[in-house]
Amino acid sequence: MRVLVVHGPNLNLLGTREPEIYGSLTLEEINQEIKNKAQELQMELKIFQSNHEGTIIDFIHENKDWAQGMVINPAAYTHYSIAIRDAISATQIKTVEVHLSNIESREDFRKISVIKDVCHAQISGHGLNSYLLGLEKLKE
Ligand code: DQA
Repeated sequence: MRVLVVHGPNLNLLGTREPEIYGSLTLEEINQEIKNKAQELQMELKIFQSNHEGTIIDFIHENKDWAQGMVINPAAYTHYSIAIRDAISATQIKTVEVHLSNIESREDFRKISVIKDVCHAQISGHGLNSYLLGLEKLKE
């Protein structure tokens, strides 16, 4: 299975960014664990991070014929990017939305995901494991 892993804005700062909320692993360390899991699940990966909405959308479009699944942490875009939602529904890539923190137990504005409805599943609150569980979900 060919899978995109997309990290949204500010996730490049993981490791130093609010570690009490997001943990102390860097994005590089998280990506290494994702690669290990993908090998176990016999998945081929393209991993991508951007702080820009349009760049994320371009990446999804460019890979729409390659990808059979996607794990995306849209970060803050989760809560208001209709454009990323539309990219997921337009390309019909089977997508799992993931979050390191539990968005249900934080500020009210984080409880809303405009992405969730167009996704196969949403996994939130398991740190690095959210991504690993997301990969497993794609196999269903
Ligand atoms: C996040 C949760 C979002 O609310 C926040 O804006 C992020 C990270 C998470 O992984 O917990 O940047 O998606």
